Amino acid sequence: MARFAGRSVIVTGAAQGIGAAYAAALAAEGAKVVVADKNAEGGQAMVEKITADGGTAVFGQVDVSDPESATALAELTVAEFGGIDHLVNNAAIYGEMKVNLLLTVPWDYYKKFMSVNMDGALNMTRAVWPHMRKTGGSIVNQSSTAAWMYASFYGLAKVGINGLTQQLAFELGGSNIRINTIAPGPIDTEATKAVTPGVIVEDMVNRLPLKRMGTPADLVGACLFLLSDEAGWVTGQIFNVDGGQVF
Ligand code: NAI
Repeated sequence: MARFAGRSVIVTGAAQGIGAAYAAALAAEGAKVVVADKNAEGGQAMVEKITADGGTAVFGQVDVSDPESATALAELTVAEFGGIDHLVNNAAIYGEMKVNLLLTVPWDYYKKFMSVNMDGALNMTRAVWPHMRKTGGSIVNQSSTAAWMYASFYGLAKVGINGLTQQLAFELGGSNIRINTIAPGPIDTEATKAVTPGVIVEDMVNRLPLKRMGTPADLVGACLFLLSDEAGWVTGQIFNVDGGQVF
């Protein structure tokens, strides 16, 4: 069953990792996908992969922290696919989480980090709203279980994503747009390998009820469900997909 046949979907941060898995799965279910990312080379490669698998995708270069760039991406999507039905706000950076405390992180660094990890989702939502409000649709944000444990400014940004989801549910509901958030536990991606020392990962995994790291594929079902019409009366929710890490 092609749940997203003919639907136009933007996935940010889709050049690699979890966003790439979402983009590929949506295309496999019939969606026309905008692979949106700062990284043009990785984004183009992802488009080629989706197209080779028989799906429909274009690359849209975007810096989600920049409102003008977000608006240009929304306009590109409408020009390519005739409208916008769904948005996945997945793009984020990890930063030097282990080095910088909230108490001492340099302001410039903090503001840059928040402009991507928190404001990015709002920028993108504001950019798509004038288009999505014509037809209704749905949005999925990407939080993290880091919102419920100590993770310095990375955790703070994810608390912001959760709050944004709940507040925007009210503002978007009148336009028949739903918005929900997935909060993944530790997911095995190249990016997490690079920022998280193996010993910390091992300790985290040992404390999970389901004793393994998650994979991007573990998140796909939740993302597609929350975007789809099957979740037609679900909005403002934070959905943990985390091997039981937080309950
Ligand atoms: P990743 O680093 O592999 O991919 C992130 C993508 O976002 C990259 O392609 C990057 O180029 C893009 N990006 C970064 N800044 C951007 C910007 N300003 N504008 C446009 N694109 C930008 O990350 P990963 O691991 O796939 O994570 C994806 C999302 O899932 C993030 O929101 C992350 O916080 C969240 N998450 C990840 C977990 C994990 O263990 N991997 C766990 C919980 C949440």
